[in-house]
Amino acid sequence: MTGGDQVSSGNPISGDHLAPRIAVVFYSATGNVAAMAEALAEGAAKEGAQVRVRPVAELAPAEAIDRNLRWRAWVEDNPYDETATLADLEWADGIALGSPTRFGGPAGQLKEFLDTTGGLWMQGKLVDKLGTAFTSASTRHGGLESTILAINNIFYHWGSIVVPLGYTDPHLMESGNPYGGSFVSRKSAAPDDEALQACRLQGVRLTQVTRRLVGTPT
Ligand SMILES: Cc1cc2nc3c(=O)[nH]c(=O)nc-3n(C[C@H](O)[C@H](O)[C@H](O)COP(=O)(O)O)c2cc1C
Repeated sequence: MTGGDQVSSGNPISGDHLAPRIAVVFYSATGNVAAMAEALAEGAAKEGAQVRVRPVAELAPAEAIDRNLRWRAWVEDNPYDETATLADLEWADGIALGSPTRFGGPAGQLKEFLDTTGGLWMQGKLVDKLGTAFTSASTRHGGLESTILAINNIFYHWGSIVVPLGYTDPHLMESGNPYGGSFVSRKSAAPDDEALQACRLQGVRLTQVTRRLVGTPT
């Protein structure tokens, strides 16, 4: 990062609004992470948050997308009209970032978006926001945790407060992932109820912790 020191604004969490503001920002090529994002948003909304769910822009060249029918179908038919902007990050008190696992880390499309946050970073606008991460991969040992941890690195640099999922609910004791919502998509299967429930719980938890720090009424 170049261009000067980060300036702490002192209070990026304004606390002047009634419900915690949660932004769920994600990349998805074939819909798995999108389904998890929606579940996380559902949990947050049920817990009383104002929620924005936004994919980041698709940046892959058409010839790469065309080689995968499911990818092409998602690009053509996904339900999102708006992509994530820096204003969404500035608006939010709590931020959930999601990505498919790509070679053990987050997708370049998400990273590309996050790499545009230098201006917000420099003004300290992301300090003290609450952050949590989730992912989908195709194999159990294919890098779920390394992806979540790599995303969390961004939160550390922003000065945000990382909210791990932990084993904070009995549902997570069986096959939950304490690092964050995770799904192993065998043969391109869509996220199952267990994974979606973990993501809902992650949305609830992010909202609860955000509310505690923002200090807004329930
Ligand atoms: C280029 C590429 C790299 C991938 N790398 C991994 C990987 O390292 N580990 C893994 O388990 N799955 C890997 N996958 C599989 C995706 O993470 C998995 O299919 C995911 O569920 C897709 O999520 P989406 O439907 O939201 O795009 C990779 C897929 C692609 C296209």
